[in-house]
Amino acid sequence: MDTTSQSSEAPEPFRIAIIGAGPSGFYTAEHLLKTATVPIEIDLFDMLPTPYGLVRAGVAPDHEKIKNVTARYDVVADRPEFRFFGNVELGRHLSVDDLRSCYHQIVYTTGAQVDRELGIPGEDLPGSHSATEFVAWYNGHPDFRDREFDLSQSAAAVVGVGNVAIDVARILARPVADLEKTDMADYAIDALRNSGVHTVYVLGRRGPAQAAFTNPEAKELGELEDVNVLVEPDEVELDDLTKEELEASPDRLTEKKVKTIQTWSTEGNRSGSKTIHFRFLVSPTEIIEKDGRVGAIRIVKNVLAKDSNGRVRPKATEETEVLPVGLVFRSVGYRGTAIPGVPFNDSWGVIPQADGRVTTEEGTVVLGEYTAGWIKRGPSGVIGTNKADAQATVDAMLADMAEGRLLKPSRGSSAGISDLLSEKGVRWVSWEDWKRLNDLECAAGGKLGRPRVKFTTREEMLEKLD
Ligand SMILES: Cc1cc2nc3c(=O)[nH]c(=O)nc-3n(C[C@H](O)[C@H](O)[C@H](O)COP(=O)(O)OP(=O)(O)OC[C@H]3O[C@@H](n4cnc5c(N)ncnc54)[C@H](O)[C@@H]3O)c2cc1C
Ligand SMILES: NC(=O)c1ccc[n+]([C@@H]2O[C@H](COP(=O)([O-])OP(=O)(O)OC[C@H]3O[C@@H](n4cnc5c(N)ncnc54)[C@H](OP(=O)(O)O)[C@@H]3O)[C@@H](O)[C@H]2O)c1
Repeated sequence: MDTTSQSSEAPEPFRIAIIGAGPSGFYTAEHLLKTATVPIEIDLFDMLPTPYGLVRAGVAPDHEKIKNVTARYDVVADRPEFRFFGNVELGRHLSVDDLRSCYHQIVYTTGAQVDRELGIPGEDLPGSHSATEFVAWYNGHPDFRDREFDLSQSAAAVVGVGNVAIDVARILARPVADLEKTDMADYAIDALRNSGVHTVYVLGRRGPAQAAFTNPEAKELGELEDVNVLVEPDEVELDDLTKEELEASPDRLTEKKVKTIQTWSTEGNRSGSKTIHFRFLVSPTEIIEKDGRVGAIRIVKNVLAKDSNGRVRPKATEETEVLPVGLVFRSVGYRGTAIPGVPFNDSWGVIPQADGRVTTEEGTVVLGEYTAGWIKRGPSGVIGTNKADAQATVDAMLADMAEGRLLKPSRGSSAGISDLLSEKGVRWVSWEDWKRLNDLECAAGGKLGRPRVKFTTREEMLEKLD
């Protein structure tokens, strides 16, 4: 097997680039290091100076324990065969051809970076935002820290009933004293401290049984201090179609979640100064302008019906209603973005692939290129879901490695990429650099009884390092 264009006595390791240092990138690296039977070296790139993807920039600050998963990623990063290249964006600082000149295999684990749109009038009005932006803003993502949200409004609507919608509603309603103990960006804590939002509508187009959020997240809302959770009793009663479905295929998790939601109509915490008001079986049809910005949202009442594939879908009725809100957060899912030179399925927002091997849109396998995680299968699944997904991709990589189906890099030594980045004048952030930033963040947090105080601009991070 021809490993590289160089010759030496010891076998040259196979060199692998992974693009995207979120959970999928780390699980890919972990499984490669665990299962490869030939010497390999892994370089993990991220456009941000910081690792961990949505574990740092997505997971809610008040869910600190979830972030402990990074300890597992740190074990991978401490392996001698591993290097981190933060602050390096594929498509900006490096091209795919650059990677092909340095690596035998390339894995794209770039996640889903943008939001899906609703496609309704008024969506672009000031005051209408995506959950993607809001979440990245409160988590201190450098590309979103300058977004502005007019929290002087008294009511907001969150469209969608997934776990991200629950995060957004909870962050808007939760007492700020709780947030002050977290790693939420300081500017976001300040803004939320002065927030006038006291009512948050959460809008689901189907019924409680079809809500995408999970029971523990729903239960947590009902237990928040000073927060009243409301539902409309007629909207949380199960319709005949849903009852039939649940009888035909009983599902304990769904039953538990429905029970939690129905409990809110009878035992909701009625004394809160803020209210999260769930509306089920409603779809937004228009965001209504007032004084040049969001003034209200029009919703239409739905019933449930089966489509031609037997799926339970919302069907609009003639009945509409207007909710007076000054802010709208659409939380209807994320979307992957295209990287120049990498095949992309624009309808699905994913990289086309077969068993983790990147393919053209027509299905031809692209030699030496692979994908895992949200950019491979779409924006669904919790952190752990990406582990099995990455392992499946690694299995394909190792099979190809064994059969010599590899790129033949012209700069295939470990210095190849660092030389190339230096030639281009790119200041990359190494794992050692990140550890220094991490120590500084944790030390600043420690003084305040918080897990960390995040750096939120690239400039301040590089300044601390240089
Ligand atoms: C708001 C939110 C909250 C969540 N909360 C939870 C939770 O509490 N518990 C849970 O289990 N799951 C949670 N999830 C789901 C979980 O975060 C995802 O399953 C997981 O992060 C997906 O991993 P990934 O590696 O595929 O993508 P990501 O985590 O998005 O990582 C992709 C990485 O690629 C980098 N990147 C993108 N493009 C480029 C490029 N061109 N060049 C270089 N780098 C690039 C990005 O900077 C990013 O670091 C949440 C998701 C969201 C959106
Ligand atoms: N605590 C946690 O564990 C946690 C926290 C955050 C995120 N996550 C995970 O991250 C993944 C992504 O979460 P997500 O909330 O972004 O996505 P999601 O779970 O796919 O939820 C998207 C929601 O948007 C709704 N929707 C889609 N299009 C719509 C439209 N046109 N009009 C109205 N509603 C629409 C969906 O309704 P339909 O079902 O009717 O399509 C659904 O309720 C999920 O797997 C989630 O579990 C986990």
